[in-house]
Amino acid sequence: MKYPLAWLVAWCTLSLPLHTVVGGDDGKLVAYDDDVRILDISHRYHPEMPEWESEGGIGQFLWQVSRIKNGSMANSSLMKLPTHTGTHVDAPGHFYDHYFYASFDVDSLDLHVLNGPALLIDVPRHSNITAQVMKSLNIPRSVNRVLFRTLNTDRRLMFKKECDLSYVGFTVDGAKWLVDNTDIKLVGIDYLSVAAYDHLVGSHLVFLKDREIIPVEALKLDDIPAGLYTVHCLPPRLSGAEGSPIRCILIE
Ligand SMILES: *[C@@H]1O[C@H](CO)[C@@H](O)[C@H](O)[C@H]1NC(C)=O
Ligand SMILES: *[C@@H]1O[C@H](CO)[C@@H](O)[C@H](O)[C@H]1NC(C)=O
Ligand SMILES: *[C@@H]1O[C@H](CO)[C@@H](O)[C@H](O)[C@H]1NC(C)=O
Repeated sequence: MKYPLAWLVAWCTLSLPLHTVVGGDDGKLVAYDDDVRILDISHRYHPEMPEWESEGGIGQFLWQVSRIKNGSMANSSLMKLPTHTGTHVDAPGHFYDHYFYASFDVDSLDLHVLNGPALLIDVPRHSNITAQVMKSLNIPRSVNRVLFRTLNTDRRLMFKKECDLSYVGFTVDGAKWLVDNTDIKLVGIDYLSVAAYDHLVGSHLVFLKDREIIPVEALKLDDIPAGLYTVHCLPPRLSGAEGSPIRCILIE
């Protein structure tokens, strides 16, 4: 061991008060580090989380392949998960075949878009996100990242095993209005698709067309005050994947 025990004890003693765990899965506030507050806006992966167009949830997604109890040196598991499960990101190849073959996969996504100042806003609950709704939100031109909290959060759709296709998302004219009238590049939403189900293909095509906008879907926006934060979203570098689970946090 490189470091003596005394050093380890000193490190633990010093670092503990700085990392008091306040919340966790149910709480939203994960860590308190002096004046830095980290808010976790990613959903926890578990077998009963909803899977797109399915009734039964994602089901088993982890298989243990070696087990200490069975004499192995370590526990180790295999993971199998649809790429658009839980909190996840879409790459241009998701809806454009030529982008898929041109390797515009999740590894091509711009980390500058996925990290930086972000506005969390509440969308009127009576409607999908149409051009009229977008206009009414009065989002200033200089805003590049917006997390749209909708009726989906109120209905706790991400906590239900059955996929619910009556979720709220962007209509085609809402998506077009965003592209034409705002500088938004990161579009965050609180259910599995950024596009309303009746506008599934059309809205995705509008958002992904110029490879500038990155949809981040199924964000966990419960109980966080609307306002300005710094968002950090990091997708794993999956070559050839048109989507991927992503870990997102907000810093206050
Ligand atoms: C561990 O051993 C049990 C009993 O032999 C077996 O059923 C199980 O599949 C083993 N699991 C792993 C992960 O090796
Ligand atoms: C290894 O996996 C078993 C379940 O098979 C679990 O009970 C045990 O706590 C694990 N050990 C470690 C060190 O994680
Ligand atoms: C949003 O659109 C979906 C169909 O895409 C519909 O089922 C749902 O009722 C709409 N929601 C609202 C609040 O209008």
